[in-house]
Amino acid sequence: MKDLLRVADLAASDLRFLVELGKRFKSDPVRRGDELLHQTAVLYFNKPSTRTRISMCTAVARLGGVPLTVGPNELQLGRGETIEDTAQVVSRYAKLFVIRTFADEDVRRFAAAASIPVVNALTDGHHPCQALADVMTLEEHCGPIEHLKVAYVGDGNNVCHSLMEAVVMLGGTVAVATPEGYAPDPEVVATTRALAAESGGRLELGADPRAAVADAHAVYTDTWVSMGDPEEEHARRVEVFAPFQVNASLMRGARPDARMMHCLPDHRGEEVTADVVDGPQSVVFDQAENRLHTAVGLFHALLTGRLEGR
Ligand code: CP
Ligand code: NVA
Repeated sequence: MKDLLRVADLAASDLRFLVELGKRFKSDPVRRGDELLHQTAVLYFNKPSTRTRISMCTAVARLGGVPLTVGPNELQLGRGETIEDTAQVVSRYAKLFVIRTFADEDVRRFAAAASIPVVNALTDGHHPCQALADVMTLEEHCGPIEHLKVAYVGDGNNVCHSLMEAVVMLGGTVAVATPEGYAPDPEVVATTRALAAESGGRLELGADPRAAVADAHAVYTDTWVSMGDPEEEHARRVEVFAPFQVNASLMRGARPDARMMHCLPDHRGEEVTADVVDGPQSVVFDQAENRLHTAVGLFHALLTGRLEGR
């Protein structure tokens, strides 16, 4: 397996390997790899990023390499050079290509044309690198994933999709509660159900946040307006999503020791209240930290050809 484009492309054993690598690199943060010694990694961001950009640049440095971050207007891509030509040219220089953009199809085209590993650093459909950190954080705080129920409350978006695929692939349960019209993509639902049939995991879908969080070990939410969603929908979304806010009352419906999770950036007073995200149940900064350790593990695994894929 050359690339990581979505979680469901991984074999369950690959996902387990990546999570364990993340834990190992966390416990040995001074380890210096040489997988990228005297080499470059190109990180292309067509949307803003704090965590992904900085953690992945740091991960490249930890493996001995030099990260080159570029935006759309800095490449000829912004003036019409094709994805295929760009991918082939970058493959002649760099050892790794990381891409955050809108269409999943564009990332697939990059990966197909590139001879180096391509990593999806967030698309409209998926955020696989976030899911690696999420599974690692869940296990650190709550124990083995196959015994856990994770509630996802809010928009059935890219973060939700990758969380569903990852938790269910490893045999856990995900209960998703979304307002009508904001459910996860039917293709991702079908894929997750197929993963559940293999792993013994479970996917529950509904529109009742209280039912989703009942007996949950973790309650996860994300922004109600993702990058690329029309900003003019903001006011309407705030109304539609209001009953899905993760607040102290909703958290009381989960297990007493439940953790609160968010990929960040969050919007206090919208999808989560300040008392919850800043409170003792929140593990959002551990998630953010684990983005670094799982990125080191992922790059190491891809550069050393350690992933099988399906
Ligand atoms: N969680 C996450 O991907 O954050 P950034 O958008 O800051 O990279
Ligand atoms: N769903 C959000 C995640 C940001 C990290 C977005 O796509 O904007």
